[in-house]
Amino acid sequence: MSRLDLFVDRITAQRDILNLIAAQSLLPDGGAILEIGLGNGRTYSHLLEAFSGRRVIVFDRAVASHGTSTPPAADLILGEISQTATTYAKADAAMVHADIGTGYADKDAGVQTWLPQLCVDLLMQGGVAVSGLQLVHPRLKPLDMPSGIGRNLYFAYRKQG
Ligand SMILES: C[S@@+](CC[C@H](N)C(=O)[O-])C[C@H]1O[C@@H](n2cnc3c(N)ncnc32)[C@H](O)[C@@H]1O
Repeated sequence: MSRLDLFVDRITAQRDILNLIAAQSLLPDGGAILEIGLGNGRTYSHLLEAFSGRRVIVFDRAVASHGTSTPPAADLILGEISQTATTYAKADAAMVHADIGTGYADKDAGVQTWLPQLCVDLLMQGGVAVSGLQLVHPRLKPLDMPSGIGRNLYFAYRKQG
């Protein structure tokens, strides 16, 4: 499978999961959405549309987004996510979406040592974590999804316990 094919499959899985969560109203009432990794701003744009009415707060090292998808300054936190996001612990977010996988197994394994706990710290009880990297944490229970959604390329969990 070419990297292009894999990219298309991964992005399709990402969109399918976000759309499913929006269509089935799977988020708890209230609470912001935290977007970890602005990048080009494509998923930021999608989150604003799919979850209209929710505040979307975005984290990245630097702004490299398309001009139409750059968050207002009040909703943009710049710096190393593992440090800046900790100030939002107990923020009681309804959803964290983290698209910070690199495709390099060794680098991604490093991120997977701290990202699950960060999601738990940021989410309210019952909040949902959506991630391009698998998250292993006793308080993150995989979300039940129809077969074909996610396809082991993108992942969703609910905070419990
Ligand atoms: C794959 S891109 C996100 C793409 C985005 N979902 C979109 O649709 O355009 C990942 C982004 O996360 C940022 N990022 C990755 N790891 C980070 C970290 N530890 N701290 C801050 N930013 C990080 C990168 O700078 C990059 O802009």
